[in-house]
Amino acid sequence: MVEPVAPIAPDPAPPVSRITLVGVGLFVAALVVLLLVIPDAEPAVAPDEMDAGKMYAQKCAICHGAAGEGKGKFVKVAGTVKSEEEIVHLLENGKGDMPRFDASSEQRAAMAKFVKGMK
Ligand code: HEC
Repeated sequence: MVEPVAPIAPDPAPPVSRITLVGVGLFVAALVVLLLVIPDAEPAVAPDEMDAGKMYAQKCAICHGAAGEGKGKFVKVAGTVKSEEEIVHLLENGKGDMPRFDASSEQRAAMAKFVKGMK
């Protein structure tokens, strides 16, 4: 007697799996597009903070030097022992030959932070 040969199993994958693959592919593509687009829409640094360096060069470097090293009779600000709050207060009111920094409170805070970052 001849043993019946087992039929070759048909591909068990139902057609829906291909549709699922396309769906997952589209989802991943959409995620990649979002990740590429979002950083442009929302910069990580607040604009006022980014401008502090520019404002320093325009308003402060003339007395304190481009890197806060001090100039002539004017004090060094890099590595100042003053706290951020003290600097904000100084920028708000000025002192002696130091003119007040005419700007928004956000800009004064950003400037104080910038000066504190100078080493
Ligand atoms: C006309 C010159 C002049 C300009 C412009 C100027 N400063 Fe000053 N700054 C001074 C003088 C003078 C002092 C010392 C004040 C005092 O204590 O009598 C001073 C002090 C400071 C101090 C304190 C330093 C310390 O350790 O005691 C900081 C911080 C400072 N300035 C930051 C700034 C920033 C930021 C700007 C720009 C927005 C600026 N200054 C613009 C003259 C100037």
